[in-house]
Amino acid sequence: MERRRDKEKKKLKIAFIGGGAMGEAMIRCLLTKKVVMPQDVTVSDVSPVRRKLLTREYGVNAVADNKEAAAKADFIVLAVKPQNLHQVIEDVRGLVSQKLVLSIVAGATLCDLSAGLDYPLIVRAMPNMPAQIGEGMTVWTATAEVQQKQRELARLVLAALGKEIYVADEKYLNMATALSASGPAYVFLFIEALIDAGVHVGLPRDMAREMVVQTILGSTHTVEKMGRHPADLRNTVTSPGGTTTEALRQLEKGGFRSLLLEAVAAAYEKAKHL
Ligand SMILES: NC(=O)c1ccc[n+]([C@@H]2O[C@H](COP(=O)([O-])OP(=O)(O)OC[C@H]3O[C@@H](n4cnc5c(N)ncnc54)[C@H](OP(=O)(O)O)[C@@H]3O)[C@@H](O)[C@H]2O)c1
Repeated sequence: MERRRDKEKKKLKIAFIGGGAMGEAMIRCLLTKKVVMPQDVTVSDVSPVRRKLLTREYGVNAVADNKEAAAKADFIVLAVKPQNLHQVIEDVRGLVSQKLVLSIVAGATLCDLSAGLDYPLIVRAMPNMPAQIGEGMTVWTATAEVQQKQRELARLVLAALGKEIYVADEKYLNMATALSASGPAYVFLFIEALIDAGVHVGLPRDMAREMVVQTILGSTHTVEKMGRHPADLRNTVTSPGGTTTEALRQLEKGGFRSLLLEAVAAAYEKAKHL
């Protein structure tokens, strides 16, 4: 298995159409994990500043022409904003033959992409922002025409970003958009608010930050490693008549739990209509 993967790595020539935040994150992870070599990576971007930066930082080949990038690779990643996808599809249509196309563009369905490109070998993935440090969560799917070997290649690329989950049904991609792709924003807000709360009760801000970050890391690892239900773990830190139950009462009174549910449901509705 390992030897087969190594062989696939050596063969892999990858192009990124769009070298912004996510394109760069993917390039960094793929190079760090040695899934590809810099000379086998081409990135096209409209911004000369981005092209210069990507070549300087990662030693990859950065070009202005999407057609040139697509022609050089056998694995093409579409990493532009949704409003630029139409132009990109126009550029690369007719150049994707025999290649695997992976899109991370929010809202672009397998059907949209296959129809736009007039081509069946499409993988659709929804990563999230912590992919920038290799700690991402990516949910992905593929058209029925994508063969097992090509799926393994897609998995190899996406696994470099962190965890990945393959789903056979594309409907889960919109749910992932609302939960794991938008999720870091919810967590960052929670972290920020908790730090402010620490400052409010009198802690120096730096100290509050360190305490909050470690508390969240420790709690997350506890859920992951112990495998117990979060409610069960919460009960273990909630003493009868103690401080934690006072705080939890306020959170429930303010609708914390249902507010989160409503927030994710609203993001899901939005994702369905992108
Ligand atoms: N960021 C996230 O956390 C995240 C998570 C999951 C999925 N996604 C998806 O990932 C995609 C990329 O997001 P991003 O955050 O990386 O966006 P971004 O930082 O704006 O990167 C897109 C890059 O593509 C360039 N570009 C624009 N039009 C182009 C064209 N016609 N040809 C080639 N390059 C072009 C942009 O240049 P200009 O800036 O000069 O236009 C920019 O450098 C989006 O579709 C988003 O839905 C993002």
